[in-house]
Amino acid sequence: MPVVRGKIIEPLYTAAQIDVRNKEMAVEIAKGPANDLLVIAILKGSFIFAADLIRALHDSGLAPEVEFITLSSYGTGTVSKGVRIVKDIDSDVHDRDVLLIDDILESGRTLRFAKELLFERGARSVSIAVLLDKRVKREEVLEADFVGFECPDYFVVGYGMDVAYAFRELPFVGVVTGDALNDA
Ligand code: IMP
Ligand code: MG
Repeated sequence: MPVVRGKIIEPLYTAAQIDVRNKEMAVEIAKGPANDLLVIAILKGSFIFAADLIRALHDSGLAPEVEFITLSSYGTGTVSKGVRIVKDIDSDVHDRDVLLIDDILESGRTLRFAKELLFERGARSVSIAVLLDKRVKREEVLEADFVGFECPDYFVVGYGMDVAYAFRELPFVGVVTGDALNDA
């Protein structure tokens, strides 16, 4: 079992499984609007997934434009949960077919915010690709168009995803299951 920063990380989806799934998703995505596609990766969590999926899109014959938006959730209470733009895209999305990429679809707040923002700005179509769908946590009526894996209700790390800024560098998706024992 991998040990990182003294923590045991149990792999949930291996690098090889993710690689296979990314290629399958790219084939599906390539069946949609392909002319002048604008891909927008939602930072920070999606950066590794987006990098791999975008290269798989190339292998599937697409030549997307690539943009980044940094979104952040605020509020942990039930009253004031919301999403704000930390860093916006530079491109004009008017009349564009957009593919949003994110790591996890959970409550749906982040992606609903992003989708509505792009439609307000005049996007022609907005589809959503996520690596993981944590369906049991959904609070908004929102579905992704392309899903890597249906994710059980664990807090996952790796492949871009963090807990307290750690573990983004892992090439697989895993769950922190406990502390490694010291030999000393
Ligand atoms: P939503 O707005 O609730 O759908 O939030 C989804 C966002 O929360 C994702 O883009 C992640 O950045 C973060 N997130 C949700 N679940 C996890 C997890 O298990 N590990 C790491 N980040 C998570
Ligand atoms: Mg995120």
